[in-house]
Amino acid sequence: MTGATAAALYERVRRVIPPVEWPTFVEDIEAILALKRERNAIILAHNYQTPEIFHCVADIVGDSLALARKAVTAEAQIIVLAGVYFMAETAKLLNPNKTVLIPDLGAGCSLADSITAQDVRLMRQRYPEIPVVTYVNTSAAVKAESDICCTSGNAKAVVESLGVPRVIMLPDEYLAKNVSAETNVGIIAWKGHCEVHERFTPADIRELRAAHPGVVVLAHPECPPDVVIEADFSGSTAAMSDYVEREKPPRVVLMTECSMSDNVAVAHPDVEFVRPCNLCPHMKSITLANIRSALEENRHEVRIDPRIAGPARRAVERMLSI
Ligand code: 13P
Ligand code: SF4
Repeated sequence: MTGATAAALYERVRRVIPPVEWPTFVEDIEAILALKRERNAIILAHNYQTPEIFHCVADIVGDSLALARKAVTAEAQIIVLAGVYFMAETAKLLNPNKTVLIPDLGAGCSLADSITAQDVRLMRQRYPEIPVVTYVNTSAAVKAESDICCTSGNAKAVVESLGVPRVIMLPDEYLAKNVSAETNVGIIAWKGHCEVHERFTPADIRELRAAHPGVVVLAHPECPPDVVIEADFSGSTAAMSDYVEREKPPRVVLMTECSMSDNVAVAHPDVEFVRPCNLCPHMKSITLANIRSALEENRHEVRIDPRIAGPARRAVERMLSI
């Protein structure tokens, strides 16, 4: 990487990475950019990845829905998923003949951990004939037991696409309740929660409004319903980013994971971001160092039992066809 390229990259992130920190990233960024070319690899990064990953080495960025959609058309032979394990599994389901790498096998998700395939089978026994809509934040084994997947960006459309009076929606209780408030379809929920978003409260929002007059509050639909009601807008990480782009609020707060504000702030120097965020430890376990090792050592390769992959892929593809 030439000095000019490094300077151009730093220019992108200088509002969110202090000059003193930048030199610690440069060597890994340079190595990753070279490895991507040598190995015909691309990096898909979720909106919660840190700015040095999101803005300096990623090829495709977005919310879970965008990453799933773009994984389908990925041209490279190797996909490195800078995000959590269920996202890497989704990329593998959609690219069975490509190598999909997750830089840290410990990058889990409290929602994915809240439910097993056996739990879904028991729900089906309890509510026969009711279709199962599964949030993508689940294992491939759970997806395989489902009729269709959804993300926070399309949950209402997916639920309504089935043309039935009631659905089972797993595993995020709050997403299910937030969707239920927007549709006439009855929703049977599970008790899973996101450990990051469940910590926000309506009192947080009231305090923020008092401390930062005029602040516009955007909340992810994994937040509890009383938080979403108190907010000015609720949507997926991509929908929040689009809202800032479209409305350009002078002052905004994103009730979501910490890196999201950094990544959106880079493109909006005129917007003031108030930042009472919560950190997702799973997302933060992905670093430039382990992305580099993933590409150098071809690890950790995502493999899915073919008996699970077939039905899980059908549930994801059915969602993508909507
Ligand atoms: P999005 O699909 O909105 O990006 O959300 C994914 C996620 O894990 C949120 O916690
Ligand atoms: Fe899972 Fe919550 Fe982390 Fe998203 S933010 S990956 S839902 S634990």
